[in-house]
Amino acid sequence: MNLYETSALFNQNMSKKQQDKLLDFYKQVFSQYQITNIHDCSIGAGGTTIPLAKLGYQISGSDISENLLSKAKANFEAEGYNVELFISDFRKLREVLPNTYDCIISTGNSLPHVNNQDVSNFINNISTKINQNGFIFIDIRNWDKILNKKPIFKARDPFVMTEEEHVSLYQIWNWHDDSSVDFIFVTSIDKKGKHEKTSLTYAPTYYPLRYDDYEKMLNENGFEIKQCFDVDCLWLSSNKEEIKRVNFKEDFDKINWYAVLAQKVR
Ligand SMILES: C[S@@+](CC[C@H](N)C(=O)[O-])C[C@H]1O[C@@H](n2cnc3c(N)ncnc32)[C@H](O)[C@@H]1O
Repeated sequence: MNLYETSALFNQNMSKKQQDKLLDFYKQVFSQYQITNIHDCSIGAGGTTIPLAKLGYQISGSDISENLLSKAKANFEAEGYNVELFISDFRKLREVLPNTYDCIISTGNSLPHVNNQDVSNFINNISTKINQNGFIFIDIRNWDKILNKKPIFKARDPFVMTEEEHVSLYQIWNWHDDSSVDFIFVTSIDKKGKHEKTSLTYAPTYYPLRYDDYEKMLNENGFEIKQCFDVDCLWLSSNKEEIKRVNFKEDFDKINWYAVLAQKVR
């Protein structure tokens, strides 16, 4: 099974708690700037982006997955918004984007689905679609931290752990020679001490994107990093967070997921 065809993705960030957290976070990121319209180029099922509509920004979205776009339409409509959504690989976005934007965003660790050269081409391509002094905003996993350890196995919190039933979740990391990696989620069900079923869910390949490399790509294409944010509180369960000093650079090795706001300066 493909991870992007599961309800985990369809409902991602749709709970009231997550919506409220994201809304507060985006307020902190964007409210000091002159931003009217925002295009999300990997919008998925939209749950991460709806809070921006709630804040009054004019939102549009694209994604490579038609299925996720149909979920996004339903999720936006359920919240009372009718936004423009269309299918596009973000590497081809310049050819299809109808307008220019104050901000283009890619959330939920989506950019590392393409290799580093393609990320650089993406920034170069969309820069013509971003208004002067406009922004690129992304959030990604801390790939520097992941590459330091290159984990291969992780036991995740079980879905169910009662006397009668255990539903355990494991994550397997399948690293390739070019440092790209496939995640496989293994769900194992035991009932009354007897193994019942094992199922595998595959995530598409990821190409690790290091902070310094991303910053270089931005600078080469006329962007400057304005601010970085530790977003562990948005993407991790609270018991997984390490204690930090609240300084992005000093805390970098303890941060698992971060966001980068970059401004077009040339
Ligand atoms: C982990 S999901 C994140 C979805 C959403 N942004 C969120 O935060 O919930 C990654 C998304 O990237 C999309 N994606 C992957 N490669 C893409 C590409 N080349 N162009 C556009 N979208 C892509 C997937 O279809 C999926 O919706």
